[in-house]
Amino acid sequence: MPRTIYINGRYVPESEAQISIFDRGFLFGDGIYEVSAVIGGRMIDNDLHLDRLERSLSELGIPMPVSRDDIVAMQNSLIARNELNEGVVYLQVTRGSEDRNFDYGDALKPNFIAFTQVKKLVDTNAHRTGVKVALVDDIRWGRRDIKTVMLLAQVQAKREAKAQGCSEAWMVQDGFITEGASSTAFIITQAGKIITRPNSRATLPGCTRLAVLQVAADHGLQVEERLFTADEARLAREAFLTSASSLVTPVIEISGHRIGEGRPGPVTRRIQEIYLNLALDRAAVQ
Ligand code: PDD
Repeated sequence: MPRTIYINGRYVPESEAQISIFDRGFLFGDGIYEVSAVIGGRMIDNDLHLDRLERSLSELGIPMPVSRDDIVAMQNSLIARNELNEGVVYLQVTRGSEDRNFDYGDALKPNFIAFTQVKKLVDTNAHRTGVKVALVDDIRWGRRDIKTVMLLAQVQAKREAKAQGCSEAWMVQDGFITEGASSTAFIITQAGKIITRPNSRATLPGCTRLAVLQVAADHGLQVEERLFTADEARLAREAFLTSASSLVTPVIEISGHRIGEGRPGPVTRRIQEIYLNLALDRAAVQ
């Protein structure tokens, strides 16, 4: 079955989905995106992703391409058309297409595309055994809170991580971990406190991060939102990362330093379990 793509109001087979070469996302990285997890054919934390989509657009002065309700209906239609059980729905909105010019016309109409991707999200090897992360310099721009399609620094960071035998990069600025190349970074101190960096322009406000902080608070787990250094991360008792496409994934090694016992720790396991159960419950009542 060929995959169905959504493009500017139409559903077309992948081979017919075409966009202008003058699309500003293509020429300037002038656009934003969102990724929502799908488990059992239902989206997880999609409201949080659409909140962030609206915020990213408004920060860049790009209008919403269609109403929020229409976006949700379109996402569900794509999931149904592609019979997606487990994976992600990707949305991208760019400022629009016009002859190349740094400045843009005020009447530009955004280009809005979406597709589904099959991906195993639950009970993966990474969830069971944990992953290794590499530390790399954070060389990105000053508005990382906007989820732009300008991802070259992250592409390079992941490449570097792979060369070091790791599956994710944690980026470091002035000695402090900012976030993963496509995930939020968490550590658990020797005293058992969960630490993650507070939201600011230095990082993307993760939707899974927000959901995990809520479940941690609801279950009486101690959380502190503060900056933490790469050295502190290497000495952590446990570590994990979160994202729509990796949910809660244990980290067992940071730049060659074994974390804790070198296997997923008990606090991480607990958060993994609580988050997944809650996400599945929420998805079921959609
Ligand atoms: N990335 N930080 C960065 C830089 C990210 O790219 C992502 C997600 C996150 C986690 O955000 P969330 O929990 O809302 O997915 C943090 C997506 C999955 C991607 O680029 O594919």
